[in-house]
Amino acid sequence: MVPGTIRAPAPSGRIDGRGYGSAVAPSDENAIPEQLDERPILVVDFGAQYAQLIARRVREAHVYSEIVPASLSPEQIAERAPAGLIFSGGPASVHVEGAPTIDPGVYDLGIPILGICYGAQLVAQQLGGTVEATGRSEYGRTPLDVTHPDAVVFGGGQPDHQQVWMSHRDSIQVAPEGFTVTASSPDAPVAAMEDVARRIHAVQFHPEVVHTPHGQQMLERWIYEVCGSPADWTMTSVIDAGVEVVRQQVGDARVICALSGGVDSAVAAALVHRAIGPQLTCVFVDHGLMREGEGEQVVETFRRHQGIELIHVQAQDRFFARLEGVTDPEDKRKAIGEEFIRVFEEASGGIEDARFLVQGTLYPDVIESGGGDGASTIKSHHNVGGLPEDMQFELVEPLRSLFKDEVRTLGTELGLPDEIVWRQPFPGPGLGVRIIGEVTPARVALLQRADTIVREEIRAAGLERDIWQAFAVLPDIRSVGVMGDERTYGHPIIIRAVTSEDAMTADWARLPHDLLERMSSRIINEVDGVNRVAYDITSKPPGTIEWE
Ligand code: XMP
Repeated sequence: MVPGTIRAPAPSGRIDGRGYGSAVAPSDENAIPEQLDERPILVVDFGAQYAQLIARRVREAHVYSEIVPASLSPEQIAERAPAGLIFSGGPASVHVEGAPTIDPGVYDLGIPILGICYGAQLVAQQLGGTVEATGRSEYGRTPLDVTHPDAVVFGGGQPDHQQVWMSHRDSIQVAPEGFTVTASSPDAPVAAMEDVARRIHAVQFHPEVVHTPHGQQMLERWIYEVCGSPADWTMTSVIDAGVEVVRQQVGDARVICALSGGVDSAVAAALVHRAIGPQLTCVFVDHGLMREGEGEQVVETFRRHQGIELIHVQAQDRFFARLEGVTDPEDKRKAIGEEFIRVFEEASGGIEDARFLVQGTLYPDVIESGGGDGASTIKSHHNVGGLPEDMQFELVEPLRSLFKDEVRTLGTELGLPDEIVWRQPFPGPGLGVRIIGEVTPARVALLQRADTIVREEIRAAGLERDIWQAFAVLPDIRSVGVMGDERTYGHPIIIRAVTSEDAMTADWARLPHDLLERMSSRIINEVDGVNRVAYDITSKPPGTIEWE
């Protein structure tokens, strides 16, 4: 590890009241060890959807980046000793009452600043330029003319005429004193400007989106040339730093981790194990509602390959007994959730001295939770179906500064297999919410077979990483068919495959017809009792991804 350059995943507790990462001075006990500190690029959030993408792009340039609220004072910003500040885009106009702003004292800190879209207009307005609504807005792909040959962000051999992505109504009409206009577009006379002496740059367009083909290069020019940041934030450095932070947080105490089979808990466990080895005990509650072979795979991966102490609770019978006769979706979820807690408590109760609980919280959860509560109370984790609220554990959240794709890369780096690292999201209640009506061992077995075929065919078609989730659903009806000369009265299987960014909305996947045909004929031929296959063509909304 290179001392002085690495920011570790922040330990729990370093969250301010707005749910942002460690923007506030940490208390002593949670402080990041000095040698792990580095100089991040802070993205000042004027509209969250833009800020996240910008932070990800900075990290792609191998420089650590965090999102901070615009309400931070210059002193608070200075405390973080950032290498640079990026003012994000935002939905508002700088002229609207209550438009987000930042204390202008920030310009006197001498820290490099890059304003993007709204952030650019704010820079212009606060430093004495003019921003106006001319009635000429620009949306989408827009031609850009680079008008200044030495413009820093357009260097590195970029063309003078290029395409950028615009999304603005107001525009900067006059750059503030000291600024050079470096580019323009048909309806933005000041599409880019710079004050090289003060190290303040601003662009009206969005360099962070893929529709600005040279956007990443522009960001990197600013990051490396203006901020002088070294490109040394890599997954290896994240592991080294994470290991150090976990060690410091837990000392020689015992730590437990509930494994769900999902990516986040798996990677969190592997990282914590790298840090503290045998002090970690994982608990894996097998409720019998996993996908085919998944329970064995979790055990195989963690116990044999990673050498992690694992308590494998075979609770299938208990769950099936609890689910007998339960058909209402909400009752089912509740039954599974409650049983999970009971089983987990029994299993973990035997681990003496356990003071810490590992949780796979990710950076988007931290940003979006909007409150610091997540740091002190146990959040019901998606993948484990909710843990008891009154558990007396301190949380270890080694992934809380990482985005999902970074967690996958980290998992690979930690030696986890692709099957776990690239696992699609899976609901805590498992196949229980994909079986309409009563959940019985026989119906679970039938659905597991069909589900395996769906996933195998998706993988064989090379679509696994493009599809958010693909699975089978077993409804509570039967239909008439004919196989050979025999009339059949069998179960249908419904195939559900969706594309999505975040599961909040989703679209049904336009799977090739021949792929659907292969799935259908394999399911009917290979799964006893199934005589019909249907494809769900409902988006979300109005549907949900799961059927229950
Ligand atoms: P819906 O069905 O609401 O699902 O569109 C959105 C995403 O959440 C997953 N999901 C769950 N995950 N416990 C979970 O841990 C649950 O009870 C649950 N229900 C849905 C679903 O798989 C999808 O990714």
